[in-house]
Amino acid sequence: MQKLGIAITGSGSALPETSLDNQTLSTLVETSDEWITTRTGICQRRLAMPSESLSNLGAKASMQAISSAGITPADIDLIILATSSPDDLFGSACQIQAQLGATKAVAFDLTAACSGFVFGLVTAAQYIRTGVYQNVLLIGADILSRWVDWQDRRTCVLFGDGAGAVVLQANESDRLLGFTLKSDGTQNHYLNLAYQPSSQELLPGVNIGQGTYQPITMNGKEVYRFAVQRVPEVIDKALFQANLTVDQIDWLLLHQANQRILDAVAQRLNIPQHKVISNLANYGNTSAASIPIALDEAVRQGTIQPHDTIAAAGFGAGLTWGAAIFQWGR
Ligand code: UT7
Repeated sequence: MQKLGIAITGSGSALPETSLDNQTLSTLVETSDEWITTRTGICQRRLAMPSESLSNLGAKASMQAISSAGITPADIDLIILATSSPDDLFGSACQIQAQLGATKAVAFDLTAACSGFVFGLVTAAQYIRTGVYQNVLLIGADILSRWVDWQDRRTCVLFGDGAGAVVLQANESDRLLGFTLKSDGTQNHYLNLAYQPSSQELLPGVNIGQGTYQPITMNGKEVYRFAVQRVPEVIDKALFQANLTVDQIDWLLLHQANQRILDAVAQRLNIPQHKVISNLANYGNTSAASIPIALDEAVRQGTIQPHDTIAAAGFGAGLTWGAAIFQWGR
């Protein structure tokens, strides 16, 4: 009989070696370790050197995920790379496919900023539920240090680079219990990495806009407000779909943007602190990578055990936000 349930059977993560702590960062912009730790909880972040590519980081995380799932790259049917900072604007998923030697897999990028991993998880699940694919590799990876304005203290202290990956497989029991995804483009202007064209006249009357992407801009206060309000709502909706109550959650696994957001969301949902997974002190906000990196660390440390129930939620540019309730393992 065809298996149409979904199980997340393997995880992996990869981080650049170079680490930048708050103290050192305060020699670059007017900030302090005290401000950054009390306002965000971040102590240090990893930065990718020019020789490190997003596809290399993604491939490293993927190899771990594939081997912990007990399969080989040749078994992968589909690769989804959630990223906003590909090595190539045409997409980097195929570069990862080549590095892995996942010859059977179709590969594409998915862009939903810091919600990318949750959006990717739900996208991957549709292919499994319809019986089209059995083994899907989902990667969340970002190198936002490429796009941060390193003179802007309001944003440069927040972000870090990294990659995380999971393998989703067709399974008899369906371990994806519920999800809710949301977008609101009317608030798009609160967080951007926008293309800025400058007009170039090719021929009389024929103008094109050639330019480049501008560094990240963010209205931190508005994004903060949005996250604290909207994230509990989508978790509630996803729990309702899953027919679960909040006290049946073993772990709250949020996009690692700010410790104060993690605390406020947990408080609104009445989830005790010991159930909140947090590693942002070490890595900052790694955008689409933050959930799978934190998941992988918690699994490897034995914090998350097979069949534990996890409420994961992403939020960020778009604006986009979404939650998925799943149980770890087969
Ligand atoms: O992954 C995408 C999702 N993004 C987020 O979730 C980010 C959400 N927003 C936040 O996490 C917070 O809003 C921030 C951490 C970005 C900012 O914290 P805040 O408590 O909202 O600070 P603020 O923007 O209100 O700034 C307070 C003060 C300001 O000074 P004045 O106007 O009170 O004199 C800022 O200029 O702190 C100043 N400030 C800084 N001071 C030292 C802003 N950034 C810094 C800094 N160091 N790095």
